[in-house]
Amino acid sequence: MTYRALVVEKSDEQFAVRVKDLAEADLPAGDVTIRVEWSSINYKDGLALTPNGRVIRSYPMVPGVDLAGTVLESSDSRFAKGDAVMVTGYDAGVAHPGGFAELARIPADWVMKVPAGLTTKEAMALGTAGMTAAMSVEALEHNGLVPANGSVIVTGSTGGVGSTAVNMLAQRGYTVAASTGKESEHAFLKELGATEILTREDVSAESNRPMEGERWAGAVDPVGGATTAYLVRTMKYGGSIALSGLTGGNAFSTTVFPFILRGVNLLGIDSVMCPMAKREHIWGRLGADLKPRGLLDSIAVETDLDGVQKVCAEILSGKVRGRTLVRLS
Ligand SMILES: NC(=O)c1ccc[n+]([C@@H]2O[C@H](COP(=O)([O-])OP(=O)(O)OC[C@H]3O[C@@H](n4cnc5c(N)ncnc54)[C@H](OP(=O)(O)O)[C@@H]3O)[C@@H](O)[C@H]2O)c1
Repeated sequence: MTYRALVVEKSDEQFAVRVKDLAEADLPAGDVTIRVEWSSINYKDGLALTPNGRVIRSYPMVPGVDLAGTVLESSDSRFAKGDAVMVTGYDAGVAHPGGFAELARIPADWVMKVPAGLTTKEAMALGTAGMTAAMSVEALEHNGLVPANGSVIVTGSTGGVGSTAVNMLAQRGYTVAASTGKESEHAFLKELGATEILTREDVSAESNRPMEGERWAGAVDPVGGATTAYLVRTMKYGGSIALSGLTGGNAFSTTVFPFILRGVNLLGIDSVMCPMAKREHIWGRLGADLKPRGLLDSIAVETDLDGVQKVCAEILSGKVRGRTLVRLS
């Protein structure tokens, strides 16, 4: 049996990304062999396809941190032939062949049944980005956020984490402000449920003031850098920031004052190594109360294996809107 896969190769002399035909013998050792139906493109996949992305830990590698499909074979009793399953994160696509392939073989501890309320396609329309948005919303609410507290801001709002977060928060009755670098996408953000739009500059301006007017009850922040510093300065008393990403930079400068005078909380969000029990809980909610409306109609678009490289280049230059599904079979 052969299968098509995107393969990243790197040596001292060359860096190459191409679609190849692989043989079953090329699959790694593992427990669950999956006929991949859908994958999706995340920012991390964009980095994986660049020579200095520092994401892939061994070459050659089949990238793709997300995948969903049907079990063909399993040596682990938790999964049986025909089960609809999914994988997000762990080492998939970085140190273990991932989702940009028609077949995958994955350690059973990383595999989950697709939760009730989602198809394999919907699960991948959400993918790592949707899971991160859901973890962010849950973390904010766990720390006391309710709609009556005031506006919640989502940064990088047209991206994967951002667009799903805007939708989830609006559906839960929050007043949502969205910051974006894309002037052309204000209508999209309003359709998702944002009622106020800020520019990227509004939320990344440098300031010498340790605190500014109290503005936000909560924040979902996949941007990082100067934007996180802005959020820390402008949170309302007791407000929380769920920080998950670094598209705007990996360092920021702040002071202790918002933390010790306003009780601001900075909450770190990691989806990659999220323990399975929490993962199943979050995905259960993604199939139920946190499932974005219009997921397949307005948030996600489709490509195929041959289109992955183009979208990966676009995601790194901040040009992608919403989520991109990869159709494998
Ligand atoms: N912690 C975790 O477990 C986890 C999970 C998933 C993702 N992440 C991280 O979260 C971030 C977003 O991931 P994603 O999948 O949502 O990516 P994405 O779809 O590419 O969205 C990122 C968004 O960030 C904004 N952006 C891009 N370049 C920027 C820049 N130079 N300055 C400020 N904003 C910029 C853009 O939104 P606008 O044009 O609307 O401003 C872009 O759409 C990435 O850093 C990713 O690695 C982390």
